Amino acid sequence: MKSKDWLNRQKRDFYVKKAKKQGYLSRAAYKLVEIDNKFKIIKKSSNVFEFGASPGGWSQVAIEINPKIQITAIDLLELKINHPQIKFYKEDYLNFNYNKIEKNFDLILSDIAPNTTGHQSTDHLRISMMLFDIIDLLDKLMIKRGVFVTKIWKGSEEKSLIKELKKKFNEVSYFKPNASRKDSVEIFIIAKDFL
Ligand SMILES: C[S@@+](CC[C@H](N)C(=O)[O-])C[C@H]1O[C@@H](n2cnc3c(N)ncnc32)[C@H](O)[C@@H]1O
Repeated sequence: MKSKDWLNRQKRDFYVKKAKKQGYLSRAAYKLVEIDNKFKIIKKSSNVFEFGASPGGWSQVAIEINPKIQITAIDLLELKINHPQIKFYKEDYLNFNYNKIEKNFDLILSDIAPNTTGHQSTDHLRISMMLFDIIDLLDKLMIKRGVFVTKIWKGSEEKSLIKELKKKFNEVSYFKPNASRKDSVEIFIIAKDFL
């Protein structure tokens, strides 16, 4: 999509307007609200790791739902929220030294996305490669019985991603929030009970 078309769509978009009015940093915030309404994951969690957290809509939602939650977040771009319960690292998740943080997360969130090329299968492969890496990292970061929520873009690697997750979690569900554009290939996976 051309950047002019994207800007026009953003201006018209219901959730973009709503986010602005309610002080959320991203329209993506509503996706996590819907995920939590259905899967009830945030109140039960105390220690969250977030891949691709910027500008910070998901972090805002997590703290709003569970004011005691602690968040460790990473992104290439700056987080636009400053909060004593958020420890933010402006780094590439691939080069990050995970040994410098405590590895006892009971909820791991990923809304990470590469820059898009507009070529659907290329974009799908790029996000999928990121997710295979992140799924590997779960072993290092997550405690037993933990929950993993991730965005995926539908495509050829989807089955293998789900297969990997099913090896590691007891329960793996798909979810398409209303706030996710109908015409987008995006869906969310909620994986519960890390083995
Ligand atoms: C859709 S946005 C996340 C929005 C966020 N959930 C929110 O509600 O504000 C995806 C993010 O992934 C980040 N990202 C992409 N590649 C990354 C990488 N290699 N390491 C860390 N973050 C990355 C982007 O910078 C972008 O901010």
